[in-house]
Amino acid sequence: RKGRSLFLGPCDFLKGVVAMDGLPPADRVEFCFAGRSNVGKSSLINALTGRKALARTSNTPGRTQEINFFELGETHYMVDLPGYGYAEAPVAVVEKWQRLLKNYLQGRVTLRRVFLLIDGRHGAKAVDEEIMALLDRAAVPFQTVLTKLDKLKKSDIETSLEKTRKVLAKHPTAYPAIVLTSSAKGEGVETLRGVIAGL
Ligand code: GTP
Ligand code: MG
Repeated sequence: RKGRSLFLGPCDFLKGVVAMDGLPPADRVEFCFAGRSNVGKSSLINALTGRKALARTSNTPGRTQEINFFELGETHYMVDLPGYGYAEAPVAVVEKWQRLLKNYLQGRVTLRRVFLLIDGRHGAKAVDEEIMALLDRAAVPFQTVLTKLDKLKKSDIETSLEKTRKVLAKHPTAYPAIVLTSSAKGEGVETLRGVIAGL
């Protein structure tokens, strides 16, 4: 059964990838969601597609353990990545995902844009800046999405935006526009659909 979301068209899970040679052929426009473990990547995919459990989510950091490919219409791949940073999994396993994640981010020719999720409450951490630097070096454009806006007071949102803008100014491949979202409340989801539709 094909799921349908208003702007994005039918979307279905294709496969989970655990090694670079398992990637589907690079023959579609591709975009992905990257960010620290637990930032809300999988939840955002569900919100965007209007599906409750298309991507698996959890309270436990390290829920997504493979590079999960979703087919969007016949022209795009939407990709849910494992988180970076702390995860509740053995160190050796986490290291393996991180290597795969970095290889994917810098080596995928059809990757049109990385949506880099940052928890609005915490702001960009050192590990986020490491990934930004990696994307700069690989010349892969990325756009920042602040998540879990429902957890922030109005006044804290402006502070979080200011801090994030300062960080992005250091990164030449960053899109200056920041998307504010709450998967829980649906805020920003339509805006992000619009951005995706333009890819
Ligand atoms: P990993 O796969 O472990 O890297 O995590 P992830 O980035 O995919 O996060 P996931 O979507 O699994 O969400 C982690 C937790 O945050 C879950 O308990 C979600 O319910 C919660 N969460 C996600 N988005 C939001 C949001 O917009 N608001 C609130 N309040 N909670 C959220
Ligand atoms: Mg996930």
